[in-house]
Amino acid sequence: MTGLTDQAIAILRRNDRGGYTVPTHGLYPYQWNWDSAFVALGFAEFDRDRAWAEIETLVSAQWSDGMIPHIIFHQEDPGYFPGPSVWATGKTPATSGITQPPVLASVVRTLWEAEGADPGCSRMRALYSACVRSHRWFHEFRDPKDNGLVMVTHNWETGRDNSSEWDDALSRVDTTGVGTYQRRDTGHVDAAMRPTQQEYDRYVAILQFGRNTGWNHREIADKGPFRVVDVGMSMELLRANRDLLVMARALSDTDVVTELEQRITLSEAGMDWLWNEDVGAYCSRDATTGESSSLVTNASFLAFYAGVGSKTQQARLLNALERITTTAHYLLPSLEAGSRDYDHKRYWRGPIWLVVSYMVAQGLAEAGHLEWAERIRTDSSKLIEKSGFYESFSPETGDGSGGPDFSWTAAMWLAWCGKGGQL
Ligand code: DGY
Repeated sequence: MTGLTDQAIAILRRNDRGGYTVPTHGLYPYQWNWDSAFVALGFAEFDRDRAWAEIETLVSAQWSDGMIPHIIFHQEDPGYFPGPSVWATGKTPATSGITQPPVLASVVRTLWEAEGADPGCSRMRALYSACVRSHRWFHEFRDPKDNGLVMVTHNWETGRDNSSEWDDALSRVDTTGVGTYQRRDTGHVDAAMRPTQQEYDRYVAILQFGRNTGWNHREIADKGPFRVVDVGMSMELLRANRDLLVMARALSDTDVVTELEQRITLSEAGMDWLWNEDVGAYCSRDATTGESSSLVTNASFLAFYAGVGSKTQQARLLNALERITTTAHYLLPSLEAGSRDYDHKRYWRGPIWLVVSYMVAQGLAEAGHLEWAERIRTDSSKLIEKSGFYESFSPETGDGSGGPDFSWTAAMWLAWCGKGGQL
């Protein structure tokens, strides 16, 4: 165990570019939003000051409208596409024009509590304000039905980039004007683990739509070519609002307390729009057609993390989890085996990502399902013990997939699965 802990620390140190951490050398050479949030949890285990700095650097690129971008391009790197000149957001530092899962407030709460939860903590206060602005951005631009859920306008926003959940909406994206470009990702890892060329063309077409609006988020939300309500981000934002509320109360920020309480009530009720009775799980749903993906993904189980679901709904989710153990040797696959386009090696169509497993396990533990939480935790540590600190892992063989020496996998070892039974 000590050997792996030392390795995990070494990975974070090696991927540290000074105030921010790259997800992995080569494949992802910049700062990614939700990667940094999870990475901060890892740093917090051995260098709290550095943990805060990770988030402060991320938030320093927050847009004036409140959006925290999904990538911050702190320096040029020819090894990545689409880089800053493709996004062309005109920001300093250069950033992408979309966001990523809103897990920041939950991480800030964890860091602040590890420091003793002092309401006077100035670092918490600054980040709290940034999170309030970011959550307001979500409510203003990404809640078209005003039901407290999160609509995404690019599949990259979900962080679960090419989950089969997006396939139907992506198939309607017109790629005729995309032009030629050189992908870089397949130069770093096996193409069999990455999205296909046709998928990539669609990702680029959606990006180009945003760029052509001058990154006008109102127009993108109203008319964009890809508009899906993501179960993952909806659950994460609800959870993040609950964590933000704890800090708002500690700060006696009464207006924000009221605002958050209202948002939480709205989301709790709104979540039923994602419940698929036939499948017995929460599933992402197309904002344009209203069609449910009908797919059980690891994000479906974030219901426990968000604290939603009736007793019956939660029981059905646990049944689904039980069923998944009959095909997955390790929990928690990103897509249930047997689902459309399941592939135990390909990006978000089967492999396990420990950051989602961590949130799901945390939610299960809080809901009193300690055995399930522990099963996910021990499976996660077995994956690292077997294969090292990969980006993701096959639920069938436990082999690593995607990039090696991945920062957030190292962080999850330090903050969660390598620690023993604590959450
Ligand atoms: C990529 O380039 O694959 C990233 O996941 C986009 O955020």
